[in-house]
Amino acid sequence: MRNMKKIIIALDGYSSCGKSTMAKELAKEIGYTYIDTGAMYRAIALYSMRNGIIQNNSIDTDKLQLAMADIHISFVRNPETGRWETYLNGENVEKEIRTMEVANQVSPVAALGFVRKAMVAQQQEMGKAKGVILDGRDVGTVIFPDAELKIFLTARPEVRAQRRLKESLAKGEKVTYEEVLKNLQERDHKDTTRAEGPLKKAEDAIELDNSDMTVEEQQAWLLAQFNQVITK
Ligand code: DC
Repeated sequence: MRNMKKIIIALDGYSSCGKSTMAKELAKEIGYTYIDTGAMYRAIALYSMRNGIIQNNSIDTDKLQLAMADIHISFVRNPETGRWETYLNGENVEKEIRTMEVANQVSPVAALGFVRKAMVAQQQEMGKAKGVILDGRDVGTVIFPDAELKIFLTARPEVRAQRRLKESLAKGEKVTYEEVLKNLQERDHKDTTRAEGPLKKAEDAIELDNSDMTVEEQQAWLLAQFNQVITK
């Protein structure tokens, strides 16, 4: 058997572009570890909400800074589903971190310099053995600027809003297309303009606009990019 080289794959892009769907599928197909960097910021937001660090939409940053040493986040592969799930201090919080409450509180948490510094260090540690795919906003620019394969994913805001709306309605949330679109545009603005680790395309990233592609087409495209790099 050919001794395949192991690489780091960085998948960055706007929210609701389908990054995690693409990353999870590829990880399964090629046997790589999937690291959802956004889940780590969500887990910190959840911890903060549970421990009185976030109250009335305001963060007690001093308290959070002290608490950072007590926050341990890991990813464990569920043997039944084959999916990677997020653990906060040993507890499976995969469902809790996906709620609207957490989504509404996570942006300011992810903008804090000391939070980003701690997360980036953990993400670098988790990925250093290679054979990993990470999705997020700053993977190819800050976490692993030397990643062998960098993808920057985009899609038209209207397409992303439609995809998000479908997901929210399926979860039973009562939202309108206009609300979802507005929320996405606000998040895009926050993600691209913050001082620390803003979302931006790395110079050597390959950009893909997946607005008019099916999930299967995206998978095939990503697998082809991967094969090209590892057979080089
Ligand atoms: O991708 P997501 O929606 O799960 O991300 C949750 C939040 O974390 C979102 O506000 C963007 C932020 N994030 C970040 O700042 N840096 C990352 N590497 C990943 C996510």
